[in-house]
Amino acid sequence: MKNILVTGGAGFIGSAFVRYMVNAYPHYTLVTFDKLTYAGNLDNLLPVKNASNHHFEQGDIADRESVQSVLEQHKIDTIVNFAAESHVDRSILEPEAFIRTDVFGVYTLLEVGRQVGIGRFVQVSTDEVYGDVHEGFSVETDSFLPNSPYAASKAGGEMMVRSYHVTYGMDTVITRGSNTYGPYQYPEKLVPFFITEAMDDKPLPLYGDGMQIRDWLYVDDHARGIDVALHKGKSGEAYNIAGEDLRHNIEVAKKMLSLLGKPESLLKHVPDREGHDRRYAMNADKLRGLGWERQMTFEEGLHNTVSWYKTNDWWWRKIKTGEYLDYYKKQYAARLAAAES
Ligand code: NAD
Ligand code: TYD
Repeated sequence: MKNILVTGGAGFIGSAFVRYMVNAYPHYTLVTFDKLTYAGNLDNLLPVKNASNHHFEQGDIADRESVQSVLEQHKIDTIVNFAAESHVDRSILEPEAFIRTDVFGVYTLLEVGRQVGIGRFVQVSTDEVYGDVHEGFSVETDSFLPNSPYAASKAGGEMMVRSYHVTYGMDTVITRGSNTYGPYQYPEKLVPFFITEAMDDKPLPLYGDGMQIRDWLYVDDHARGIDVALHKGKSGEAYNIAGEDLRHNIEVAKKMLSLLGKPESLLKHVPDREGHDRRYAMNADKLRGLGWERQMTFEEGLHNTVSWYKTNDWWWRKIKTGEYLDYYKKQYAARLAAAES
């Protein structure tokens, strides 16, 4: 392993992985390949701007020619695929882009990678493929019961990866991360959305009763988990990367408000997300068996995250314009109005 293509490396988790790998493995070359959708942001890669072992190429994983060209030009031997449409609420509004990138894009990367003869292919997936887990903790052999178009598209991508391992003998590893939070997360997901809205004293739309449960994982722990799976994972296997720290959404929201010194009256219960999964929970024993441990507690991680958004409003204020405002109107205006009436 020498030349690693990080697809989706300008997004939230991909950029954390790039920032980590560039320093942890100075003898590797990292090439970020990213379409720069609304969620891709070159500011996320500013910390590695001067790294001689990192390069950026703009491109679409569903476009065969550009994938082939980047693989050949940089003599890529390993792919770590973060590229995805990644937000459940957007998948409910407009599912098509999810099928294109999360299923067809994964197929394109696999197929071109196979023809060019790459080595390991790591697919970054999600706990959402397991669906709503009423009790207990998902293990890697559990069946898939995806409930949103996002979860279904990620499950479809995983199935393509599996088929390329079984049929063509491709060296593949899949990781399934739990809800991830930390610096540089696009402010549409719960944690950065609520922090940045609360900083401006805006109402926080909490879906339904706010008693849904998510399993929270700090972004650097997620990035290190992918590194462990990349280097030590067994070919053809999947690995859960779980924070194993389950919290109700309402508790997370109240903790963020308390860290910001803002009143709980900013919280507004709004009509629930359609098909909303109540609970995600995974068991991380298999990855722990390879030597991975979560390092960040939820309290510490949330504290760091709130401080980062407070200190770096230059990063998120320029995002909250244009496309973001259109999305905000489509997603939240009606829900917040319903909560008022
Ligand atoms: P993100 O939305 O912040 O970033 C996605 C990146 O992919 C962006 O930079 C975007 O420009 C790029 N991209 C999108 N379509 C592309 C295409 N067709 N070709 C090339 N690049 C494209 O997402 P994230 O939160 O960083 O998630 C990264 C990966 O981790 C995704 O695969 C997601 O399913 C998975 N995941 C996310 C979480 C989470 O809580 N955020 C948890 C588990 C797994
Ligand atoms: P999100 O960050 O979108 O991640 P996911 O849907 O992948 O779990 O949402 C986390 C939880 O927070 C989820 O149960 C939905 C809820 N949520 C709200 O209550 N209000 C919001 O405005 C958002 C974005 C999410």
